[in-house]
This record gives sequence, structure tokens and C-alpha cells, in this order.
Amino acid sequence: MLDLNSASLIFLTLSICFISLFFLFFSASSNPSNKNPCPQSYPIIGNLPGFLRNHHRFHDWVAEMLSQTPSSTLQVNSFLNLSHGICTANPINVEHLLRANFQNYIKGSRYNNVLNELLGQGIFNVDEHAWILQRKIASHEFNTKSLKHFISDVVKSEITNRLMPFLSKACNDDMVIDLQQVLQNFTFNNICNVAFGVDPAYLQNSSFVKAFDDAVEICSSRFMSPIPAVWKVKRVMNIGSEKRFKEAVKVINEYAMEIIISNENKEIGSNQDLLSRFMSASKSMEFQDQEQRRKFLRDIIISFILAGKDSTSTALTWFFWLIAGNPRCASLIRAELSSLPELELRPRTFSYDELKKLHYLHAALSESLRLFPPVPINSRLTVDKDVLPDGTYVGKGWFADYSAYAVGRMETVWGKDCREFKPERWLDADGAFQPSDQFRFPVFHCGPRMCLGKEMAYVQMKSIAAVLMHQFDIIALDGGANAEKMMNPPYSLSLLLKMRGGFPVQIKRRQQ
Ligand code: HEM
Repeated sequence: MLDLNSASLIFLTLSICFISLFFLFFSASSNPSNKNPCPQSYPIIGNLPGFLRNHHRFHDWVAEMLSQTPSSTLQVNSFLNLSHGICTANPINVEHLLRANFQNYIKGSRYNNVLNELLGQGIFNVDEHAWILQRKIASHEFNTKSLKHFISDVVKSEITNRLMPFLSKACNDDMVIDLQQVLQNFTFNNICNVAFGVDPAYLQNSSFVKAFDDAVEICSSRFMSPIPAVWKVKRVMNIGSEKRFKEAVKVINEYAMEIIISNENKEIGSNQDLLSRFMSASKSMEFQDQEQRRKFLRDIIISFILAGKDSTSTALTWFFWLIAGNPRCASLIRAELSSLPELELRPRTFSYDELKKLHYLHAALSESLRLFPPVPINSRLTVDKDVLPDGTYVGKGWFADYSAYAVGRMETVWGKDCREFKPERWLDADGAFQPSDQFRFPVFHCGPRMCLGKEMAYVQMKSIAAVLMHQFDIIALDGGANAEKMMNPPYSLSLLLKMRGGFPVQIKRRQQ
């Protein structure tokens, strides 16, 4: 006779065998036509063990696997086989996803489920008509000279009035500062000023800054969660991070509405900020009532703040880390700055036209973005089944990811020296910057949904890099990038490729 414990054990074992067989069969029969290699995948738990083992070096793990497949494309099975998808680093597939068959690869529920409370119906979170409408208004504004000048003026004023005084003090006091945090504060103030036209000093004192940071961090962990049911249960129960998220969104909404309502009472015709521009554009649009109009404005502005918040600061953090470890490139950037006329007489900032002349700096920033793209991996949902140009089958309702991080590290795309920081690869024989084919460099996305803030980002990055490098030596406490660290860079796993634990540096004034 079996005792109770043995009986339970046998029952449990049989159940596991049965469930495993069921999922094995289910997994094999659901996508028979896909011949793509797959990271080691187990019945029921899919790729979860590999993910957990490589969590700390996720993007390098993905890049390694992609570089070992014949066409740089993998198939991925999630936990419980609940979802299937592909991940590619093949520029021909990237072009197919983002441009050639754009209609079939949408944001859909993949984004909406995670970002809806924060972004609502904002440009970043919607498809089809809602997206077309906002894209049209926003790209019109982003192409105006007046917005370009406004952005450039805001950047200059932020540098002169906030960044430089802060860094000078850090230098005088011989302080160790977290440069990543300093740059994050700078770009957040910057984007809030461009978006709302509100003095950032006012924002510093408000709980909006903290609420936005919390909300983005929690959305990021939702995205990265291998078992989404966990955060969904927490949301229903209103506990832990999901409770904090709800509170943060409340603060953001109240703050945004306060600014929108106060702007309604002002003469907005002459204001240059994005909110004032969208307010003017929305006058010719039909809304059910004032509330709906305000919600439209709230959603579009919050999307812009999210898009511009940490992307540029993340890019600059890796740039300064790379420069700290590559003194030869630092000297070449400084030599280029010195070639500008009357450098020693100028105020502390550089004009839009001067920035355009800095080809080597532009190349160094692009090279840094290639190796450390602020949005390392991006995802879409398929409307219908499809076959990618390399023959990969993609089922209906699957996710389709491209890894910009992996594209930048493919020998087949960038050559044997792809892990080296070499700004020269972006320059022609005369030293003029040569842009890359956009699908080999999908750092700002490509196709109809390409980043609207690319130019603004380069203006910000070049202005800050030029001013800082002209005035200071930035000494990284970890010594900056070297060949060994480039094989295992210190990033954390979140939507943006932030540096793990910050970027501690000391600032020393240069002898001019
Ligand atoms: C180095 C800095 C930046 C990088 C690497 C970057 C990258 C990207 C990427 C990868 C996307 C596609 C996201 C997706 O559809 O899933 C995107 C979209 C977008 N970006 Fe940027 N971005 C940067 C800075 C900015 C700035 C400063 C702004 C301006 C406010 C901005 C505004 C936008 C907007 C509005 C979209 C949505 C476009 C659409 O869906 O039609 N970005 N960006």
C-alpha cells in the first residue's frame, strides 16, 4: 500500500509530466513553420531560466545569441508559452518591421497594457488615427525654425544658469558627483521647459519630478517583468509598486491639468513652448467638451516629457564614460573646439551654427549611441502573420522585437572592430560627418515613427559636451571604458540603458 506522501508525490510527478507533454506539443504545433533558432527553451517555463541567469547582462546575452544565428534573428517563447515572438538584429528585417510593412507591426496592447495609465492616448502609446493626428501636428511644429531656436535658447539658458554654476561649485569643493543624475536633472528641466514653458526651478520644488521618475521606473519594471501576471495582480490588489504607481499618476495628472488650465487663461499666441503650440493647433479640432480637450493636451505633453526625459542624459552618460577611457578622442574633440574662432572670448555656450561645424564631436556622439543606444531594445505586436525578408515566420499576435544594442555589436554590420569606440568610422577622408544607413543605426527608430526629437537631442548633447569638455576634465572614478569593461558594460535592466549605480566623477578645471 502507498502512504499518503508517496501517493501525492506520484500524483505531482504525473501531473508535471502531463503538463510538460501538453506544452511541448502545444509549443511544437503552434508554430510549425518557424525554423529560427531559439534560446534554450523548456516546456512550460520557456526561456525563463536563461533570462534569469543572464538578467544582469541581458543585452549582451541577446546580442551574443543573435550574432550566433545565421540571419541574426531568434524565436522567443515566453513563460507558460503564453506568448511567442522574434527578436532581430538584422538591418533588412529592421527595415521590414519599421518601414516596409509598418502597418503590420503596431504598439497595440503590448504598450497599451503597460503605459495606459501614464500616457493615455498620447502619441507614444497609440496607433492608427490617434497617432496620425498627433504625429502630423507634432512634426509640423518640430520643423518650424521658431521651435528649433526656442529649444536652442532653453538649452543655453539651462547650461549657463544651472549646469555650469553647479559644476563650478562641485569643482571648487572637490566633490564626487553622480554625473548621470546631474545630466538627468538637466534634461528633465530642459524638456519640462520646452514642453510646458514652465520655469524648471518651480518644478524642482514640486512633487511632479519625483512622481514622474517613480511612474517611469514602475512602467519599466512592468515591461521587463517575465511574468506580467504578477504586476497585474498587484494592480488589482493595489499593493506595493502598483499602489505607488497609482499615487504618482495622480500627482502627474493634477500637475499637468493645473498648467493646462492656467495656460487657458493666458494669451498664448506668442508663447513658444509645445503646450502653447498644441493648444493653438487644437482650436481647429472638435472635442465633446473642455474636459476631453484638456485630456488630449495632457496626453500629448506627457508623451513628449517621457520621450525627452532621460534619453539624452543616458546617451551623454555613456559618452562621457567612453571619453574618460579614450584620451585620444578627448584630445581630438578639444582640438576641434579650439579650431572655432575666438574660443577664449566667447560666452560659455555655443551657437547653433557653431555646433554644426563640430564634425568630430558629432561622430563621437554617434559612435557612443551606436554602442550604447538609450533605447536598447524595442518591441511591436503583429496584426497578421508575416514572413520577414530573411525567411523568418512571424505569427499573428506575436511580438516582434529589434535590438538596437545588438545591431550596433554585429560584426556582419559594423565589422570586426564593432566593440571598439572609433568615431573615425563616421568621417569621410575630409573629416566630414557621414550619416549611416538608418537601419544599421536604428537608435532613433526608423520609418514613419522615427524619433521627432533627434535634432533636439543632438543640439542638447553637442552643447553640453562642448561646454563641459572645453572647461573641465571629467575624471571617472572607475577609469571609464576599457576593452575589458566594453565586454561587460555596467548597465541596469530597464527601458532605458542607464548606468548601474550611477556614474561617479570628479570635475577639474582645465588650464586654458
Ligand atoms: C538621444 C536621445 C533620444 C533617443 C535615442 C531617442 C530614441 C527614440 C526612439 C527609439 C523612439 C521610438 C520609440 C517607439 O516608437 O517605440 C523615439 C520616439 C520618439 N521620440 Fe525620441 N529619442 C531621443 C530624444 C528625444 C527627445 C529629446 C524628444 C523630444 C521631445 C523625443 C521625442 C520623441 C517622440 C515624440 C517620439 C514618438 C514618435 C512617434 O511615435 O511617432 N525624443 N525616440
